[in-house]
Amino acid sequence: MPTPAPNDHVGRLVLFGAPGAGKGTQGRRLAESFGVPLIASGDLLRRAIQSGTPLGTTVRRFVDAGDLVPDELAVEIVLDRLGQPDANDGFILDGFPRTLGQARALDDRLAAEGRPLERVVELRVPTDQLVDRIAGRAGIDGRSDDRADVAQHRLQVYLTQTAALTEYYRAHGILASIDGVGTVDEVAHRIDDALRRLGPPDEAPATLS
Ligand code: AP5
Ligand code: MG
Repeated sequence: MPTPAPNDHVGRLVLFGAPGAGKGTQGRRLAESFGVPLIASGDLLRRAIQSGTPLGTTVRRFVDAGDLVPDELAVEIVLDRLGQPDANDGFILDGFPRTLGQARALDDRLAAEGRPLERVVELRVPTDQLVDRIAGRAGIDGRSDDRADVAQHRLQVYLTQTAALTEYYRAHGILASIDGVGTVDEVAHRIDDALRRLGPPDEAPATLS
């Protein structure tokens, strides 16, 4: 069992990192151990595509090509999910935000609700290992965007459109960057240490009126 972070709750956390960095793997573990929802923008988008909703039809070509879907759609789908009651006492975001516009929209919403984002943990993994990990998953999960050429493009999109967000969160004093290379358990322990270093989340979890 991984050691829980202080205060038995994880608070409002973003797991940040490149495609293949391990956000989903570590996010599932954290969500289970702290009893909060894992809100993964990619999963929400893939679900919309699979269920053939109008949103799914609109976003499909972006996801299949490995491009970011437009900010307003990503923001809408994630903020809608964040408004559900199970996210009142904490959540783990995976894959969102990915642009400065998304980060600001998230901050604005959470500030308006009096429950700001508390911690951002970045998983750092060298590009060659990201490529290997995605290649290892291709064909297992059936993700259309795990094809080698699309995966390369996703990595490029991360570098050009998303990576610089670490500066935004560093400036807010809520970022911890950790080495994402190693076994899943080793990385999990580093995340737990990072959560301790960042300090406990708000003692009194906010409730929505
Ligand atoms: P999304 O679903 O978010 O995918 P991603 O960011 O590209 O990341 P992955 O899911 O590929 O990797 P991960 O970090 O979750 O790693 P995982 O744990 O799976 O986005 C998909 C698309 O949706 C985007 O391209 C875009 O089109 C759209 N989208 C999503 N969010 C958006 C947004 N906010 N705005 C606009 N568009 C958006 O691990 C990967 C593999 O490595 C697995 O096989 C795993 O088993 C393995 N692994 C994990 N940890 C380790 C380890 N420590 N050692 C070895 N292997 C490991
Ligand atoms: Mg993922």
